[in-house]
Amino acid sequence: MKKAIKKILLVGFILFLLIQIYQPARNIDKGQAPSDGFASFYNAPKGIQDILKNSCYDCHSNNTNYPAYSYIQPARYLMEKHIKEGKEELNFNEWTNYSARKQRNKLNGIIEQIEDDKMPLDSYTLLHKNAKLSDQQKAEMVKCNTKTTK
Ligand code: HEC
Repeated sequence: MKKAIKKILLVGFILFLLIQIYQPARNIDKGQAPSDGFASFYNAPKGIQDILKNSCYDCHSNNTNYPAYSYIQPARYLMEKHIKEGKEELNFNEWTNYSARKQRNKLNGIIEQIEDDKMPLDSYTLLHKNAKLSDQQKAEMVKCNTKTTK
């Protein structure tokens, strides 16, 4: 019995080591300075820019600020999946490439996600406690976005 447990632990450990080999490309925009399509397009106040940087850009921009544990699988895999899906839905750096219609839709989407407490994702705020939006930050974001949709 004891032997079996040892074997299982050993196999588990080997598998853990093996998955470390998988290290996909990182979401880091080398070359030009980080373009900030959204913030400059709306001339967003510093407070809003800080909220976006702190709570949204890790998944919705071309630059992720990777934490140390991002080198460890399977954390890395899950992170990369969120970044890929997040960027597909909304990339603040690519804002000026969106049509006016898409921009309107996304602005409404941002208000909705924030009002419903869906963003930033819970799995993210679990480890990024300071990314969680306070009621005041939420109100600021919604107010700013509502102004721009008109
Ligand atoms: C940990 C990664 C992560 C963070 C941080 C994050 N998002 Fe997301 N976001 C996603 C993913 C993944 C999706 C697509 C799947 C889904 O909707 O759950 C998404 C979808 C969205 C959508 C939906 C797009 C649409 O058109 O319906 C909006 C809007 C959005 N996020 C806004 C935000 C805002 C605003 C913040 C910051 C306050 C933020 N997100 C932070 C990962 C993230």
